[in-house]
Amino acid sequence: MPRLLDAADPQAPAEAAVQLAAGRLIGLPTETVYGLGADADQPAAVAAVFAAKGRPADHPLIVHLAAGPDGRGWRAGVDRYAQSVPAFAERLMAQFWPGPLTLILPRRPEHAAAAAGGQAAIGLRCPAHPVAQAVLSAARAAGVHGVAAPSANRFGRVSPTRAAHVMEEFASLDHEALLVIDGGDCAVGIESTIVDASRGHPVLLRPGMIGAADIERVAGEPLRDRDGDSPRASGTLASHYAPRARVRLMDGASLQTALEVLGSDATHIAVYARRPIRAAAGVVVRRMPDDAAASAHELFAALRELDARGVKLIWVETPPADPAWDGVRDRLQRAAA
Ligand code: TXA
Ligand code: MG
Repeated sequence: MPRLLDAADPQAPAEAAVQLAAGRLIGLPTETVYGLGADADQPAAVAAVFAAKGRPADHPLIVHLAAGPDGRGWRAGVDRYAQSVPAFAERLMAQFWPGPLTLILPRRPEHAAAAAGGQAAIGLRCPAHPVAQAVLSAARAAGVHGVAAPSANRFGRVSPTRAAHVMEEFASLDHEALLVIDGGDCAVGIESTIVDASRGHPVLLRPGMIGAADIERVAGEPLRDRDGDSPRASGTLASHYAPRARVRLMDGASLQTALEVLGSDATHIAVYARRPIRAAAGVVVRRMPDDAAASAHELFAALRELDARGVKLIWVETPPADPAWDGVRDRLQRAAA
């Protein structure tokens, strides 16, 4: 079993820093989801992340940077890993860091090649979670400039929003290999918004809680669509974030009708819906929050819990078309693909 340490333990940041400097892995709480972290500049440590996740080695990882006491300490990390930063990306960092935004920037060829999956660009993020920041600062003091961390789940599966999820995902790793810092429930609950800033104009690669309209306003430029040349992002694969049960998205009325048709034959189905649902006894029904942020916050834990009921199908009411729901809708569509 991995080692679990409460973030309230005063030794937690220092122990995490020692673990990282030694080339081993940590479970890192952030405001979005938990990351599986390694020193971005140690290729063997980065390789251990890919191996633990079962992730293809050409799928790049995000490098996490410390904010420092003034909240602007990420500058040193940006200068280390990024070759150049377009003006619109500077505005985005100044406005949204620390926070749930990842920027893809041209990479300095001498750094973090393994973490970048060999790509010419690097994903950088300065997370807002106080525990993440305490760990990143302690790591920085121990000579770790950036922490490469994908979401701490096996490849293609649901991202973890609690330390217990990370322990479940990597139960086969031992006490030395992985130190999970328990920082409680992740507030945002879905992964960071990703903006590609490596090709001169902003491109949205993954929607998140920082919405497209806010990105455009701060960037001062319209977001362009991804094209065939856009860097690959596994979180953008059609099928991702999948629980074991098959997920199906339906509008509320069709969902209700289908349940009525099945009647007591629906016990292999779990339902996750905003509208009140009538279902036969034995059918697991969970209410989805009406608010997009609250829904994002609980989404992955809810999918895990419904999955744990051993159902074959999870029927989910399609989220509203409103842009506030873009991130949740994106994750559910991928879970259903
Ligand atoms: O909120 C988050 O972003 C979480 C927390 C832990 O920070 N991390 C996360 O990492 O979601 P991951 O690896 O599960 O998803 C990161 C996405 C992937 O789809 C990856 O392909 C893309 O970012 N990405 C990272 N570096 C990239 C690069 N250099 N070029 C293109 N895409 C990149
Ligand atoms: Mg992921």
